[in-house]
Amino acid sequence: PAEESDLVVRIKADLERHNAVIVAHYYTSPKIQALAEETGGCVSDSLEMARFGHDHPARTLVVCGVRFMGETAKILTPGKRVLMPTLEATCSLDIGCPADEFSAFCDAHPDREVVVYANTSAAVKARADWVVTSSIALKVAEYLADQGRKILWAPDKHLGDYVRRETGADILMWDGACIVHEEFKARGLADLKKVYPEAAVLVHPESPAAVVEMADRVGSTTQIINAARDMPNERFIVATDQGIFYKLQQQAPDKEFIIAPTAGKGATCRSCAHCPWMAMNELGNLATVFDRADNEIHVDPAISERAMVPLRRMLEFSA
Ligand code: 13P
Ligand code: SF4
Repeated sequence: PAEESDLVVRIKADLERHNAVIVAHYYTSPKIQALAEETGGCVSDSLEMARFGHDHPARTLVVCGVRFMGETAKILTPGKRVLMPTLEATCSLDIGCPADEFSAFCDAHPDREVVVYANTSAAVKARADWVVTSSIALKVAEYLADQGRKILWAPDKHLGDYVRRETGADILMWDGACIVHEEFKARGLADLKKVYPEAAVLVHPESPAAVVEMADRVGSTTQIINAARDMPNERFIVATDQGIFYKLQQQAPDKEFIIAPTAGKGATCRSCAHCPWMAMNELGNLATVFDRADNEIHVDPAISERAMVPLRRMLEFSA
C-alpha cells in the first residue's frame, strides 16, 4: 500500500540523516527484516545482534526486537544512542526473573557459577558471571562442567534442562519459560510426523523436553536457518516463532516449512507461534523512532558497568 511505502521512504531517509542502523531479530515482521537488510543493517539471532551493534560504526542503533536486546546493545556500547520502536516490547523470561528475587537466589548459592540467558534485564545480567544465548549455551556449560564448576542457571528451565541433559553439568534452575516455545506440543508433533515422515524437525531449545527430544536439530534461530539450508530434506517442521519463516524461505526457496503444532491449534496454524512482544515492532512506530522521547534505552551506569563484564565474556567466548 502507498502508505507503507511512504513509511519506508521516511525510515530510510531518517536512518541516513541520523547515522543510524537497524539491528533486527528474525522474529520481527518480514517488512522490518527486509528493511533492515536493504539499509545495511542486520537480521540475526540475539548473539549476532549484540556483536553487530558492538562492531558497527553507526552512532545510533535502532534495535527491532525486545527490550533486553536494546539493553544489551546499550551496555556493550554506552557511547551509542540506542532506540527501539517501543520499550513496551518485553519477554516472559525477563518478566519472570525479577532482579531482587534473583539476587537473593544467587546469595543463597554462593558456590555456583551464575549463568544467565541473554533474555534478562540489565540488573540480572549485572549479577551474573556469564551471559549466554541459545547458540553458545551448550559450549559455556561444557566449559564450566569440564572445570568441575556447579552452575546456577536462569531463567529458562527448558533451555537449562536441555543443557543439563546434553552436558551432564550440575545445574540449579530458576523456574522461567518462554510463552511462545512452551506451547509446542509433542503429541501434535508426533501426529504431524506421521503425515510427513520424511520431514526434518528443527527445534529451538526454549521448547519443552518432549519436543526437543523429537528434533533432528536443536539450535538457536541462526542454527535452525543454517540447518534448513544445509540439510538435504525438502520439508521441515519448525518449532520456533513463525517470524523465522521469512528468512527460512529466503535461504531455501525450494523447500517447504511447516510450523510445529501448538496447544489446541491445528497443525498448520501459521500465526499461532508468534511472540506478542516481537509483534509490537511495526513500520509505523519504526517511522517515528527518531521523533519521540519515550523510546531511548537508558541503563543505570553502575548496573551497566557490572553487566558489561559477562556480556563481553559472551562475545569473547563466541569469537
Ligand atoms: P536466539 O535468536 O538467540 O535463538 O533467541 C531466540 C529468542 O527467544 C529471542 O527472543
Ligand atoms: Fe521472550 Fe519467547 Fe518472545 Fe523470545 S519469543 S522474546 S524468549 S517471549
